[in-house]
Amino acid sequence: MADKPTIHILGPGALGSLWAAKLSHDNEVILLVKPDVNKSLSPKHHSFQFINQNEATTITLPCEGSSTLPWEDGTPFSLNDTPIDTLLVFTKSYDTLKAVQQLTSRIIPSSRIVLFQNGMGSQQEVTQLLFNNTVYAASTTEGANRPDKQTVIYAGKGETWVGPISNKQSQLDAEKLSALLSSSGLNVSSSDNIWEKLWLKLAINCAINPFTALLDCKNGELIGQTLFDSNITPLCNELSEAMLVNGVTVSASELQSKVIDVIKKTHQNISSMLQDVRAGKQTEIEYINGYIEQIAQQNNRKFPTNLFLLEEVKRRF
Ligand code: PAF
Repeated sequence: MADKPTIHILGPGALGSLWAAKLSHDNEVILLVKPDVNKSLSPKHHSFQFINQNEATTITLPCEGSSTLPWEDGTPFSLNDTPIDTLLVFTKSYDTLKAVQQLTSRIIPSSRIVLFQNGMGSQQEVTQLLFNNTVYAASTTEGANRPDKQTVIYAGKGETWVGPISNKQSQLDAEKLSALLSSSGLNVSSSDNIWEKLWLKLAINCAINPFTALLDCKNGELIGQTLFDSNITPLCNELSEAMLVNGVTVSASELQSKVIDVIKKTHQNISSMLQDVRAGKQTEIEYINGYIEQIAQQNNRKFPTNLFLLEEVKRRF
């Protein structure tokens, strides 16, 4: 019998754990965790309750250290030096480069890396670091949350697109990766223009997340509030211009309709940025509206509405 493929998962938060649980049926899944994640458990395994439509399953997966630091109790990692075949990265965008850097001794030219980060900027950082590797990005609308470290709730079925962002792979490689990810049972498609998907998601995040953080409200509660109503049209104009500079054509009015559509479809959601604010965590604003401001500066343009939102979020949180 052929060996099962081995998949390493870096950053097993809500989404990483969802993929780990789903992929573990047909694959050997290994979690790469920071030293303090399992302080009360054996560092060799991590168990969690996976709740899917009110049905709970206990998932126990092997762990390896994702960094060279010892565990919190002082036990050093037997830092595994075996090469990584497939690495799925679910860290926050601002942690991604550092987290991947910790693993470079295990990344060989045939390792493939799949980035699931929000926003834009971390993908470029990783492709520059791993210029010899096949790097892919994924854009997903799957929903999961993790009320505590031992519980993962599959909150909403979505879709995932995956496509290459480095120049090293063939179409066949991309299809093989998509088939591997599809073995999760989740809805996965390969995309030959993943940048366009990432840009659209970035623009939607720019137009929803900072408002929800500043107004401390659910996505569905944005429409009708002055801050949102008076800024959304100029913001969509700026975002459409930033996309055009990067070769993605979406008119401002088309973008605004997409934003309103996502708000309506996710009206009960607490955006990822507001979740971070409420949890007292760093937000991903620098990789969302901050990335658009970088585009403005690099291209001698002014995106004042975006800059206002960026500065307000940075000032307040
Ligand atoms: O970041 C998020 O929360 C989501 O991408 C979105 C689309 C804003 C819905 O909540």
